[in-house]
Amino acid sequence: METVILNGELIDRKDASIDVEDRGYQFGDGIYEVIRVYNGKMFTAAEHLERFQRSAENIGMKVSYSIGELTALLQQLVEKNSLELGIVYMQMSRGISPRNHAFPAAETKPTLVAYTREMARPEKNMQSGVKAMLMEDIRWLRCDIKSLNLLGNLLAKQKAVEAGCFEAIQHRGETVTEGSSSNILIVKEGKVLTHPADNLILNGITRKQLEQICVNNNIPFEECTFTIDEMLHADEVIMTSTTSEVMPVCEIDGKGVNKGVPGSVTQRLQKLFTAEIEKQCGELVYSV
Ligand code: PDD
Repeated sequence: METVILNGELIDRKDASIDVEDRGYQFGDGIYEVIRVYNGKMFTAAEHLERFQRSAENIGMKVSYSIGELTALLQQLVEKNSLELGIVYMQMSRGISPRNHAFPAAETKPTLVAYTREMARPEKNMQSGVKAMLMEDIRWLRCDIKSLNLLGNLLAKQKAVEAGCFEAIQHRGETVTEGSSSNILIVKEGKVLTHPADNLILNGITRKQLEQICVNNNIPFEECTFTIDEMLHADEVIMTSTTSEVMPVCEIDGKGVNKGVPGSVTQRLQKLFTAEIEKQCGELVYSV
């Protein structure tokens, strides 16, 4: 039996149903989070749940659970499903109401859903690095909100996958923004650079963790925009996300980055990130 959360209740997935007029289903009117689970423990849960609350506020919704209540509920879900290594996915929509673009009455209850999935660490790709493809960023101007509306991201990812790439690196004009489901960082003369956390990117939790790791280990880190050309001539390129962790990008549009192999700063950051996971969740069977 697989357990899911529907509106605060832990129930059998077979018994969970969503109304056809749920606004998440009809409009993508809602928000979501993806949290990693290592050794049966959620990694950086508080940071994800704080962002969940911020995303909700940004679209005029309120999470009616405290971070403590949500953490306890999700941890129960992880335990019920005996999840050791994987993810928790959670989303909250603006609820069920007759289709109308304008928001429904204030008393409409949001729909909260969460489930777990087993997912290995992407060990092979973390060791060898991945290929990426450049793509114009056609998304809206509030990419800081982790919205259910992901069509722009999906179209970019699909094109990349069709071209045999792992990720689409998006840019607005000459400025690199972020991946279709990841943040992008470059390494230049030992310094780690990434797009400022403004409205044009999602302020990734993995990105934030890396910033802290850099600060703690005297690795220069700076939030600043960089161009496509600067990225193509960077010493190293990294993509980060909850599921991909710290992933070397070794080829962009067919051109090799750092001669096509993961760079030394990337490898050091991978080790430090793994150490951070182990600090929070205990020893990992596999360590990069
Ligand atoms: N994606 N930018 C975008 C557009 C993303 O969708 C994600 C995450 C990130 C990285 O954020 P974080 O480090 O907090 O995971 C950046 C998740 C994993 C997803 O949609 O599956």
